[in-house]
Amino acid sequence: MEKKPYPICCLGAGYVGVPTMAVICEKNPDIKATVFDVDEKRIAAWKSENLPFYEPDLEDIIKAKRDKSLFFSTDAEKSINEADLIYICVGTPTKTTGIGAGMGTNLTYIESTARMIAKYSKTNKIIVEKSTVPVQTSSYLEKVLKANAQPNVTFEILSNPEFMAEGSAIRDLRKPDRVVIGGKDTESAQKAIEILKKIYCWVDDKQIVTTNLFSSELIKLTANAFLAQRVSSINAIAEVAEVTGANVHEIARGIGLDSRIGPKFLGAGIGFGGSCFQKDLFNLIYLCEWFNLKEVVAYWKQVVIMNDHQRKRFVMKILNKMFNNITSKKISVLGFAFKKDTSDTRESPAIYISDYLIKEGAHLSIYDPKATKETILRDLQALTPNVNLEKQVTVVSNAQDSIKESHAILILTDWDEFKELNLAETYKIMEKPAYIFDGRNVIDQKEARKIGFETYSVGTPL
Ligand code: UGA
Repeated sequence: MEKKPYPICCLGAGYVGVPTMAVICEKNPDIKATVFDVDEKRIAAWKSENLPFYEPDLEDIIKAKRDKSLFFSTDAEKSINEADLIYICVGTPTKTTGIGAGMGTNLTYIESTARMIAKYSKTNKIIVEKSTVPVQTSSYLEKVLKANAQPNVTFEILSNPEFMAEGSAIRDLRKPDRVVIGGKDTESAQKAIEILKKIYCWVDDKQIVTTNLFSSELIKLTANAFLAQRVSSINAIAEVAEVTGANVHEIARGIGLDSRIGPKFLGAGIGFGGSCFQKDLFNLIYLCEWFNLKEVVAYWKQVVIMNDHQRKRFVMKILNKMFNNITSKKISVLGFAFKKDTSDTRESPAIYISDYLIKEGAHLSIYDPKATKETILRDLQALTPNVNLEKQVTVVSNAQDSIKESHAILILTDWDEFKELNLAETYKIMEKPAYIFDGRNVIDQKEARKIGFETYSVGTPL
């Protein structure tokens, strides 16, 4: 980092790129970061008062650093050319058509980004692959960059996957468990690694893990696969608990105190959502299929199967308890985001559960503290393009309106405000019998039952 300020840029103004650049700027007064995106609307939003998504503490950093050391731009040439180090943070969605559809990764954005970097780079650059990618993408990236480079321009490629979670992105970035940096075993790559390490100046050296490029790429997929597997494992035990009269939360505590297992990610519920777990599992499964590792494929596929099963099982519980008769009934859906403290609804279990219920003819009254009406309706319409959603779905702006005169409450996101529901008051304004289906272990079931509710909470005695 010879220049001061050291110029970096980030291609892709999404959930990974912006929080990462924000915290880098917060921690490094000597860095100037430009976040580029082709999407003009998104860049305009980052420059405005109305940021594109909600993430705790992000707004404060943006306001403090914007136009001082953190810039947003749609000018690719300027952003790339000025930077000495470039983060690639573009989307890597699952392929939707062709061979590998639904499993393999669509690398279109990675490739177009590489071509753009090659086109506009007049000086040598360090390229940091941060997007989650199939293993060996770094060598493909290198090939595209080299083949299109301007004369005498070289690129050093590093892999530096991101492990932050939405809703706690800033906290995770400020205090990461570890930073993984993959690079080649050459002198120039090792030099580039040292520069990247300096950018993470607030992270203890012992927490920086350096590996080869492919290990780093596979670490990312493995970490998400392990986390998703834990959720599916505890959900599998939840089903056993329900039929045997055990309680999955007691089991989670009982096993979580074993230091080899640990207490985190043992929350049974309606399954994992979000843009990463399923996509990354498919990414891993597809890679294993590619190499014909049949048993490994079957092993990881089961994690996804269990997750789908958990959502469907929740719906079956609702139907069973309500005598398979929810047609035309008002059902209150509390929470639509895939987890609390985010407005993100991508792959949220709430989408799939709502869809099942719409097909049963229910009237859903949906409330989420942060997910917008537009997003909720778009997600649902994508699954049922032929259904007139207006007849069956209302999105409201507070829990009270959603609950009023409903037959059942479904808790689908673990927002703190749902923990504070006044159950006695809630009971009064509902149709009777009044049901609560708690998909996130939020409600005090004992109290709810005492008040008169019929309740179901995943993994607890029926
Ligand atoms: C996940 C990983 O946790 C991050 O480390 C990673 O960087 C990120 O993916 C990514 O690849 O970008 P994220 O998807 O934002 O982060 O959120 P998580 O906190 O992991 O939750 C994922 C889903 O699992 C949520 O739907 C959550 O409700 C569910 N979950 C989590 C459970 O059902 N039970 C648990 O005990 C924990």
